[in-house]
Amino acid sequence: MLTIAVLVSGGGTNLQAIIDAISDGTIRNARIGLVVSNNHGAFALERAKKAGIETAVLSPKEFPSRDAFHHALLARVQESGADLVVLAGFLCTIPEEMVQAYENRILNIHPSLIPSFCGKGYYGLKVHEAALARGVRISGATVHFVDSGTDTGPILLQKAVEVAPDDTPKTLQRRIMEQAEWKILPQAIDLIAGGKVRVENRKVIIQ
Ligand code: GAR
Repeated sequence: MLTIAVLVSGGGTNLQAIIDAISDGTIRNARIGLVVSNNHGAFALERAKKAGIETAVLSPKEFPSRDAFHHALLARVQESGADLVVLAGFLCTIPEEMVQAYENRILNIHPSLIPSFCGKGYYGLKVHEAALARGVRISGATVHFVDSGTDTGPILLQKAVEVAPDDTPKTLQRRIMEQAEWKILPQAIDLIAGGKVRVENRKVIIQ
């Protein structure tokens, strides 16, 4: 059984998709051992509590330095016995020591088709604002492993979503969540829990 630590910062709809997929059997052979938020007010924490999942809040502001926050974050995740770390809308940078400790075992969901609209400064609604400003007809979501860069790790799954002529950043964000994110993130976790994923030469191979 794969134990997952889910890191969140906000609403937690992707966390909810994972919780629901575990309970309806879309994700097999996995459990969420811990949900960590960097922010006390994250609604994701309520979702976790309602599902009976252990939660922790580690706020960078409550540590004497960024390094101390990073050490505590890794220690808490390791203490939960996590085999896999899932970033589900987690808006803090992942410490290098965590990337090393969990090489090819940290998943991120990004709300665009990488390599478009990704990297530093592209998160949440900003991604959709940029996609609309560029006038793309198709956007989507990407699940990838996390390496030392920002959104540069090996790509596991992607799903395209059409942009509508009257889309606003919010309507596009919602459609991408519904049609792509909430599907491919659980699907990726199920593939990993089923032992079907490996990384070779920075590329993901799915058996
Ligand atoms: C999601 O759209 C996720 O793809 C995005 O933040 C949102 C979190 O929503 N992540 C990023 O932009 C990461 N660069 P949620 O809290 O409802 O899951």
